[in-house]
Amino acid sequence: MKIIHKISEMQKFSASARRKGKTVALVPTMGCLHKGHLSLIDKAKKCADLTVVSIFVNPTQFGPKEDFSKYPRPIERDIAQCRKHGADAVFLPEAKEMYPKDSSTWVEELMLTRGLCGRSRPGHFKGVTTVVTKLFNAALPDIAVFGKKDFQQARVICRMVRDLNFPIRIILHETVREKDGLAMSSRNTYLSPEERKNALAIRRSLISAKSAILSGRKKIGCIGKMIRDEISSAGGRVDYVEIVDSSTLEPLAKLSGNILIAVASFFGKTRLIDNIDFKISTGG
Ligand code: PAJ
Repeated sequence: MKIIHKISEMQKFSASARRKGKTVALVPTMGCLHKGHLSLIDKAKKCADLTVVSIFVNPTQFGPKEDFSKYPRPIERDIAQCRKHGADAVFLPEAKEMYPKDSSTWVEELMLTRGLCGRSRPGHFKGVTTVVTKLFNAALPDIAVFGKKDFQQARVICRMVRDLNFPIRIILHETVREKDGLAMSSRNTYLSPEERKNALAIRRSLISAKSAILSGRKKIGCIGKMIRDEISSAGGRVDYVEIVDSSTLEPLAKLSGNILIAVASFFGKTRLIDNIDFKISTGG
């Protein structure tokens, strides 16, 4: 497994694979790899000849009061995990090469980023789309794999790829969970045992909301309140609960079609997100 730091070296690796007729899959991450990330690597390996995992804690997607400096960076363990899962290369770019001091070009998506995390974390998605563009231009992949745990991010990347004509196929992977239902996240490492237990309310409330909808509860406001109440009574501080169309991410007027319920909430100082998506067919 190759460890690559320089963008030009990364480009050479992929260009040379391409010349040999091999396809390349990229799994972009910020490291502190868990089973969610590892399942994306496994998926990538099935979809392409060579798999590249990028690990870069991207400063531009963190707000000034967010956890950029304390974000966990267990790099040796991450590299070992990538090796164990059969990655062909790990790309570890340096911040100073990714963002030269006078860097002044951004990539921004303007529609799908208006609500949900886009509203609570101003500038976050501008950082994500910019860094993912840069990672694409470095790794030159045929395929890139993203997780549905970050549902809005996945939608935004798909839109960006379409709008800017990146010749890259995006593959989305289901959310990987702990046995008790908590969505795996690098940020789970911040939780105290009690917060970790309380945080289960997120998944629980999403499942109850889905079954309430499927059994005919029609009022979006009531469903939203049900979720908020369950999270608050477990000691969580709700950032948002949104019930939206899963393609446009626009709020739904009525509960039909492709539904996404997305939640962000704080347990202690840790902000966690999760979602559930399903379809309600109308008529016939
Ligand atoms: P990070 O949070 O490290 O996540 C990297 C990838 O793993 C993303 O596609 C994310 O959706 C996926 N992922 C995280 N937890 C998952 C889980 N429990 N199940 C399945 N997939 C999961 O998302 C980012 O990094 C960054 O924003 C990035 C795209 C790398 C740009 O900096």
